[in-house]
Amino acid sequence: MKHDTTLLPARGDDAVEILLNDHRVIRGLLDELGETAKGKLNDILECLKGVLTIHNATEENLIYPALNKAAGSRLEAQHLYHETAEADTLMFEISTALAEGDEEELSARIQSFVDAVRHHMDEEERKALPRLRENVEAPDRKRLTDSVKKFRSAMHFDLATA
Ligand SMILES: [Fe+2]
Ligand SMILES: [Fe+2]
Repeated sequence: MKHDTTLLPARGDDAVEILLNDHRVIRGLLDELGETAKGKLNDILECLKGVLTIHNATEENLIYPALNKAAGSRLEAQHLYHETAEADTLMFEISTALAEGDEEELSARIQSFVDAVRHHMDEEERKALPRLRENVEAPDRKRLTDSVKKFRSAMHFDLATA
């Protein structure tokens, strides 16, 4: 896979479909991360950071609030925000271990990170996203999808010009 940190195009005709396609990209990168030789680790970490920044911002700004409001799942939305913050902390710890050359800590943190992000996506796919699909009426879904697409192109523009 080509590693381009600023590239996570919104693919799909529906908000949920776009997120599921993001998950596919993220899962591919997590698989690579588990098997990557140390020399290439930085590359793949930078790519994952870029992709997760875009994906998580989409969810935190649009999807979790919609889940909270339309699907009445406030606790679930809070739980997902919390898990996202935990994964950010783990990513920070990975960067620290990498910078300090602490091999043992590095592989332990990478494993925790991979497990945490996989678990989070599994949970979204099993519960949050189906709930959103079931509970948001067609006109609101269309609005949410338009917002996701607009948000994503604005984010790509920001990252490209940063
Ligand atoms: Fe998420
Ligand atoms: Fe997600």
